[in-house]
Amino acid sequence: MVAEVSTADRYSRFAHFEAKGHSPLYQELASGVAADAEMLALLDDSLPKPKRQPNLLLAAVRLCHGVAADYGQFRGWVLDDPEPVLEIMRTHSTQTNEPARTAAMLPILSRIEGPVALVEVGASAGLCLYPDRFHYDFDGHQVGPESSPVRIRCAVEGPVPLPERLPEVVWRAGIDLNPLDVRNEDDVAWLRALIWPEETERQERLSAAVEIARAEPPLLFTGDLLSTLDSVVARAPEDATVVVFHTAVLNYLSPEGRESFYRKAMDLPVTWISQEAGGAFPEINAKVPEQRSDKALFVLAVSGEPIALTEPHGGWLRWFG
Ligand SMILES: C[S@@+](CC[C@H](N)C(=O)[O-])C[C@H]1O[C@@H](n2cnc3c(N)ncnc32)[C@H](O)[C@@H]1O
Repeated sequence: MVAEVSTADRYSRFAHFEAKGHSPLYQELASGVAADAEMLALLDDSLPKPKRQPNLLLAAVRLCHGVAADYGQFRGWVLDDPEPVLEIMRTHSTQTNEPARTAAMLPILSRIEGPVALVEVGASAGLCLYPDRFHYDFDGHQVGPESSPVRIRCAVEGPVPLPERLPEVVWRAGIDLNPLDVRNEDDVAWLRALIWPEETERQERLSAAVEIARAEPPLLFTGDLLSTLDSVVARAPEDATVVVFHTAVLNYLSPEGRESFYRKAMDLPVTWISQEAGGAFPEINAKVPEQRSDKALFVLAVSGEPIALTEPHGGWLRWFG
């Protein structure tokens, strides 16, 4: 029998393994919740288990009140008036949208000749659907419009086939259980609240990517990726190479759901780019040539073949030799 992970453990693990080294404030806040019986009781008594996750609470408080100065202020905001925070947690989910994740895919996309139709599953607001509009800097190797407000820096290691051009994207579509709309201020405020307070560069990138997407909003379909993918792929222009991709999505699915998606993606007549945490697809993971202790790192794979490791927010790319 697998032991239940308590809410206190979840917050403690989040503080020590996720926030530590990235967000001193969120490390303090999550450690505070882990040791606070009143806060833990509120979460356990008011929310179903999946809704008690640290990132959701932290973003909900941020949306309601702003950035807390310390744990005392944070707990005061929540416990003095819990309902607004709890309501956000019930009605929202973690949908962080990080356009920098496109950097790892660019070496693959840029080698496709002719028109490309992009289909992103788990697209959130669809900000990863604009790799042809961003400026990239791969350790000094630059590609993309110099005038682009979205500047993405990606460190590279190994024999990365550095892109010399951008793909010719002629069609972009996304699928999400709950697509966010870049034209909707509440949706954009939620995307902002999901970025950790110290990550100012990510906030700036989000604002710039939202401006690009607002100028030409993506086609987003509401639905489950398993049941909706075929019909969206069928809408793509016939003369384009269809690329189905996803980043940071498959861990939302059960192991059975991931297995079904793997089979579907392998069977479709498309180029399939997957960028997911190491354990998402055992079939792909088994072929990764490099052993690594950090399972949170993403594996980049093309049509089932692993080709690189990537930093989960797009900061670096390590191509397999
Ligand atoms: C962490 S976000 C990643 C967004 C984007 N791919 C990125 O990397 O910036 C994961 C997204 O997947 C969506 N999602 C989760 N399960 C899904 C499913 N079964 N079908 C469609 N979308 C799903 C969530 O709603 C969320 O917007």
